[in-house]
Amino acid sequence: MKRTATGALARQLADRTGTNPGDWYFVFRTRYGMLQVFSALASQRPDASVVTQLLTCATAVDPIVVAGLKPVYAEISAETLSIDPAALSVNASDAAVVIQHTFGMIDDDAAGRVAAAAQSRSILVCEDSAHCVGRMAMRKDGTPLADVSFHSFGVEKMLPTKFGGAVWVNPAMADRGLHDEIVGRLAALRAPSARLRAAVRTYRVQRGLLNRLPSPVSRVVRPMLTTMGLFAPAIAPIETAGGLAHRAAGMSSRMAREISEHVRRLASTEEQRARVTAAYVTALGGAAELPAGATQGQPLVRFPFLVPVGVDADEVTRRLNSQGIVAGSWYRPVLFPGVGEPAVYGYDPDDAAVPVTDDVVARIVNLPTGVSLERADQIAKAALTAIDSCRSSRT
Ligand SMILES: Cc1ncc(COP(=O)(O)O)c(C=O)c1O
Repeated sequence: MKRTATGALARQLADRTGTNPGDWYFVFRTRYGMLQVFSALASQRPDASVVTQLLTCATAVDPIVVAGLKPVYAEISAETLSIDPAALSVNASDAAVVIQHTFGMIDDDAAGRVAAAAQSRSILVCEDSAHCVGRMAMRKDGTPLADVSFHSFGVEKMLPTKFGGAVWVNPAMADRGLHDEIVGRLAALRAPSARLRAAVRTYRVQRGLLNRLPSPVSRVVRPMLTTMGLFAPAIAPIETAGGLAHRAAGMSSRMAREISEHVRRLASTEEQRARVTAAYVTALGGAAELPAGATQGQPLVRFPFLVPVGVDADEVTRRLNSQGIVAGSWYRPVLFPGVGEPAVYGYDPDDAAVPVTDDVVARIVNLPTGVSLERADQIAKAALTAIDSCRSSRT
């Protein structure tokens, strides 16, 4: 591999995952890597479906829709917040399945069962590691189990980089034609346009200024700048309407250099987040339901818990936010932050028979993990108080 900025980044990710640098490709945002992969699939299997989950971000499903494929939504497990292999049934119209490591919880066994079900029917196994850049589900022999693995350097992910995504393509993929089509499309990506590169450089400043504007003004200015391609928000309005904001683009050298710097510190970020995650488990274990995947020492991008049945999760989140705690509701509503026309996403809220997903979505709250242990302790205490007071305000 050439000594380029993306080449250096590929070596870093390859070292972390025991893969080959030549199998890594870089994109402006992960969603564009997904678009290339699903477009490659659509060129061979037009009208096919892609099995994914509702507990996700709209930007993870947009690439399926834009590629012309049909998203279908499998039930998740409350322990992994990822597709439940026991509830999964794949059929002849499915061309791919997406195993999402929600919050960074990787369950090799469950992922392996989903992958086995898919691979026995020649269905492409995609892994969504957006929340756990540089980590992958592994087989027992220590090799990655996915055919294609997506990683994000985007907003609110493991690193403070805001932009960029990586795609690993398994060199041992069974379908050689599809492998070559995917690799061809990823390798052909051009660097982002000058306007988009400027939007990347000025993102933080623009966001700071937009956040300080009175909201009636910012409500007008923000979409205007976005439509003109001058501002690149984490989720553009069109990305909740079954579209993507830009044409697929690769990663600029400048982006790759900045990301590389941060990847150097990924291990220490992971250690700190794993410690904070463990502290939340100890503090909240008795008061809230914790997905088993959150209790196993993994470095989570945010810490998820389910409030007790009957407690209003939105109210708990509001109370925490009012104390300056960045608690969140990934992913309530589903296809976060909610889509204009669910039918565009092949989703019928009245028809989706996914009771576990519905229950998780109704009760989930998440807490920041990129904080000190001392701050995590304060946040956990505030969460316990919020749960308690929401419980008693109900009775
Ligand atoms: C689960 C998941 N997959 C994929 C994406 C898309 O990543 P990116 O923002 O790098 O395009 C996101 C973004 O939030 C996500 O949460």
